[in-house]
Amino acid sequence: MIPAGTGYDEEIKSFYTLNKGLPERAKCSGTACFVASKSMGIELQDQSNYDKRIYCLGKCFAAPASSQDKSIPRIANFSRKSVLVGPLMGHQYASLDQYMHENGMSALKAALSMSPDSVISEIEKSGLRGRGGAGFPTGLKWRSVAKEKARTKYVVMNGDEGDPGSYIDRYLMEYNPYALIESMIICGYAVGASTGYAYIRAEYPEAISKFLNAAKEMESAGFLGKNSMSSGFHFDLSVVQGKGSYICGEETALIKSMEGQRPEVSIRPPYPTEKGLFGNPTVVNNVETLANIPWIIRNGHKAYGDLGYGKSRGTKLLSLNSLFANPGIYEVEFGTSLDTIFYDIGGGMKHGSVKGVMLGGPLSGIMVPDEFRTKLDYEEIRKVGASLGHGGIIAFDESTGICDLIEHVSTFAASESCGKCTPCRLGTAELSRMFRRESGATPDYRRFERDIESLAAGSLCGLGTGMAEFARSAQMKFREEVKSCFM
Ligand SMILES: Cc1cc2nc3c(=O)[nH]c(=O)nc-3n(C[C@H](O)[C@H](O)[C@H](O)COP(=O)(O)O)c2cc1C
Ligand code: SF4
Repeated sequence: MIPAGTGYDEEIKSFYTLNKGLPERAKCSGTACFVASKSMGIELQDQSNYDKRIYCLGKCFAAPASSQDKSIPRIANFSRKSVLVGPLMGHQYASLDQYMHENGMSALKAALSMSPDSVISEIEKSGLRGRGGAGFPTGLKWRSVAKEKARTKYVVMNGDEGDPGSYIDRYLMEYNPYALIESMIICGYAVGASTGYAYIRAEYPEAISKFLNAAKEMESAGFLGKNSMSSGFHFDLSVVQGKGSYICGEETALIKSMEGQRPEVSIRPPYPTEKGLFGNPTVVNNVETLANIPWIIRNGHKAYGDLGYGKSRGTKLLSLNSLFANPGIYEVEFGTSLDTIFYDIGGGMKHGSVKGVMLGGPLSGIMVPDEFRTKLDYEEIRKVGASLGHGGIIAFDESTGICDLIEHVSTFAASESCGKCTPCRLGTAELSRMFRRESGATPDYRRFERDIESLAAGSLCGLGTGMAEFARSAQMKFREEVKSCFM
């Protein structure tokens, strides 16, 4: 295993909060834990040092959480056909043998008997879009890397899942790392890459060890390394451990982190598909995106494309926070209405009534009950000023005041900003001070509006624009309450 930022100096080290890995007794400061503590009327602990907070341990179903909680979430399928959780519901895969016993590795076998171009066509025709947040078509991304003439290409699995509220990738990596490695080999074969890296965040130590063990087993069994399944195709895999930085989930920052550079976001173009890791064409795919690949290859693009709605094909995993009566990870078909998800599947709120819901983490718009008839679909959700993001769903009740919520989210954004753009570096910190009512930071509504405008207009990545999207939706949907923060 390679630590992210190998060869780094003190300046780079200062960027990260978990240079020494996850402490044994870490407390979570993520948004699901924040709203749970409000609902329970307790204070989140260890909140004094803003720079050293750990934002999300991926245990939002049991919030407020600590690294010592060993509970596991409910996992269930509500789609007509399960693409993702079917094999996860009963058990974690304990060995490669068990995975193979249940049809595992048959997709790799099938893919290696096809031409690389046909594998890419299959993914293109399925309509699969990236689940990391942007919803970019996966087949098109693979095709762009396949077209590049470079001798060296890479496949990177983005296992940095930093959005507070999301714990989907965590369980995919812990329960079935074999399927993810199978997908990475298929991707490497399709695009002509013989090296893969799995970048996994330090907050998920179990996922890291399960992934490493799976990789060893797959190497011994002849799937990884030279001559995979006697096909002549060669694929090596390494695991890179993150160091506690949310922005490293953004693909250009992630690449810099792997290269040992200070992980600031880069201007695109060039895209990673042209000049990615060490300047070579690179596919960066989210964990859940990759988890879809074996099913598509085994069942065909048509079976996959038959599921879904509009331009959002297939199914999506959603993780519901502890304030729902039934928190857990649920697979649903795109097109399902949000009220079905929140009330029928999630069981509504455990106590009281819902004030708002954050889809896709804190850096996206808040949705209010009037909007819950919206369908689960990238485009439909955008129409109500929110984003699906990675599918982490955080519901909050009346005990969460909007002023406190804005303070929490802006402090998160300020702690995690990479500092490259001035509006984000200064604006998020100013909002955080303003809403914390720190001395010298007078709450000023016009200043608040100006900060949001500059964040929206002058941010290079989704951290800054997401902060603006969140604040604007709070302003629009809780107008009087937001105004009261300035009185
Ligand atoms: C601030 C920020 C954080 C991100 N964090 C993640 C993350 O934790 N995991 C992830 O897969 N993608 C994350 N992304 C999206 C990645 O940049 C990239 O689009 C994604 O990994 C591509 O994979 P996909 O096409 O399979 O979605 C983030 C983007 C931004 C702007
Ligand atoms: S918006 Fe913020 S996090 Fe994104 S590149 Fe700019 S400074 Fe970095």
